[in-house]
Amino acid sequence: MYMVSQNEIERQICELRQKLHLHNHKYYVENSPEISDFEFDAMMRQLQDLEAAHPEFADPTSPTLRVGSDITNTFQSVKHRFAMQSLSNTYSSEELREFVERIEREVGEAEFVCELKFDGTAISLTYEKGQLVRAVTRGDGVQGDDVTANVRTIRSVPLQLLGEGYPELFEIRGEILMPYATFDRLNLEREAAGEPLFANPRNAAAGTLKQQNSHIVAQRGLDCTLYQIAGDNLPFATHWENLCEARKWGFKISDKMQLCNSIEQIEQYITYWDTERHNLSVPTDGVVIKLNDFAKRRQMGTTAKSPRWAVAYKFKAEQALTRLNSVDFQVGRTGAITPVANLDPVQLAGTTVRRASLHNAEQIALLDIRLGDMVYVEKGGEIIPKITGVELSQRPTDSRPFQYIEQCPECGTPLVRFEGEAKHYCPNQNHCRPQILGRIIHFIRRKALNIDGLGSETVELLFESGMIANAADLYSLRAMDIATLPRLGEKSAENILHSIEQSRNVPFHRVLFGLGIRFVGETTAKYLAAHFRTIDALMEASHEELCEAEEVGEKIAYSIREYFADEGNRQIIERLRSAGLQFEQQNVEQQSDLLSGKNIVVSGKFSHFSREEIKALIEQHGGRNQSAVAANTDILVAGENMGPAKLQKAQKLGVKMISEEELIELLGNKIIEQNVVKADDDKLPPQAEQTPKTESVTQGSLF
Ligand code: IVH
Repeated sequence: MYMVSQNEIERQICELRQKLHLHNHKYYVENSPEISDFEFDAMMRQLQDLEAAHPEFADPTSPTLRVGSDITNTFQSVKHRFAMQSLSNTYSSEELREFVERIEREVGEAEFVCELKFDGTAISLTYEKGQLVRAVTRGDGVQGDDVTANVRTIRSVPLQLLGEGYPELFEIRGEILMPYATFDRLNLEREAAGEPLFANPRNAAAGTLKQQNSHIVAQRGLDCTLYQIAGDNLPFATHWENLCEARKWGFKISDKMQLCNSIEQIEQYITYWDTERHNLSVPTDGVVIKLNDFAKRRQMGTTAKSPRWAVAYKFKAEQALTRLNSVDFQVGRTGAITPVANLDPVQLAGTTVRRASLHNAEQIALLDIRLGDMVYVEKGGEIIPKITGVELSQRPTDSRPFQYIEQCPECGTPLVRFEGEAKHYCPNQNHCRPQILGRIIHFIRRKALNIDGLGSETVELLFESGMIANAADLYSLRAMDIATLPRLGEKSAENILHSIEQSRNVPFHRVLFGLGIRFVGETTAKYLAAHFRTIDALMEASHEELCEAEEVGEKIAYSIREYFADEGNRQIIERLRSAGLQFEQQNVEQQSDLLSGKNIVVSGKFSHFSREEIKALIEQHGGRNQSAVAANTDILVAGENMGPAKLQKAQKLGVKMISEEELIELLGNKIIEQNVVKADDDKLPPQAEQTPKTESVTQGSLF
């Protein structure tokens, strides 16, 4: 029998991969295929067969991975090398003019790149030696989810770069998009299958990217446009030149971007695209105006949230006029009442609108919205559009001011309003059906206890059948009971119990989020867990102590105290604790004993780290965090806007005060290299970064 040598097989595999990368690029990025679909598919199958027979030549960037796999994705949380900032927004040409003038005042003559603001979900791609190694979502800007397996299936993302001259290691950021046509097709399919529809292409893109099965992602037809590049040794000193170069490496870079040298040119670009965008295949919601030159960008620097060298001009939302027929009142899991308007169906931005949000009683009163009125509806990308005004000239003569409900539409309890809150609430937390159900459904969410064997419909079934009345009851469910429910067999009962079992390992901060304490979102739950470390400490905390935790103000502190004052809630927590859920923050990994035995208070706002990150660092290096300055306090790490009382007390007691930078210095260069300098190049003074334009450019911090 004729034997093909290993070398020969490897050569064939490499050649097929190269060809497929190239033809993929021609088809999905350049829109100009050179071979037929049939030839492409044949080549792909040939490679698939060879790879299956020779797993020793596996490659994580092989084009065969575009089809995805059925292996369940778990999304690791990854810290961004450079924070993913957002852009400051404007809707007014006045502010845009100010932006341009501010830049010209500070850096002199300036050239701008105008780009479309793509309306999808942001992604950061890392390439090493020309290969895609990581794709991370924006997350909270500091850390996001590793969605590499899913992004590999997006045909317009190069797995292997073409051409040459790309840096050894760099990041490129952009937007994952769902084209309108794909979105419409997907929703049609979902409607036919009785699945909930996506509200808009942005949600559909974001939802798809978080799919646990990359095979499904591969079929969803996502697209990816890149618009920012960062890394050391970039070939050029300007944004425009680097993006044009990146296009040669195989990236999809918008061909709609434009260099502008004056505010007039920028305005022309905006005016043109404000209407022309309706003819694009992907959604856009504005224009991004960026300073072109990197050195000048660094001169402008950034604020905590966004760069000072770029701005997003948002297009005004489209409006439609239609009649308001009636108002429904929905009760959320926290008892919050949301009025929803029922309208005469009207066409708006490509879809038919029948319902719209009215927000709250105050807004209804403010706009004097009445039943029978002709109202303006706008689509801002939310799940349902909102009513923004009334056409008074068409008001029926017999109309009367709108009467807001005073009792819960579900349980009849008189509604209450909290101070400073615009919404009405039903206070009957323990006996109002949508609230009880809503809390359990919130508890099982992916971001909370992630009990993915259960869905909201099954929760409803379990509730109706009397098997559960709260989250703690989930942990006493038995397979034989579940299997008696309609549409649920033994197999699904097992799945449900398995995912309930798994939830016992979910970390404390997610359990805390899952409890559904009003105003305690995902981030606040993280801060609270890091600050108090145990549920007991949190339950016992006074109002003042709660307010000391990061991001916790009066309103949140009040809500937390109220939650724990409720005997029913305490009982549920005790039962969850007995069921084995995590009610303590996991111990931190020890890095050094540089701060061993030191009592440290951290106060104020910081620029490199969040307060909780600083506290974590202190613990990692052996220090002990204290919430208040006391006689035994050794160090006060003082940030900006520190409370005056703390400062005075520290001064009186002679406590050593150090800045964030001094702490970093104290802990050695290690953390500086890892976390700080790279993330903060923007803040270097201009003279520290005069980069000769002709040489390769270090563009360490994002842009
Ligand atoms: S630049 C430092 N360029 O808008 C800012 N962003 O609010 C880096 N976006 O999260 C972003 N099109 O998801 C940039 N041409 C474009 C964009 C764009 C859409 C999104 C992006 C970002 C958000 C900023």
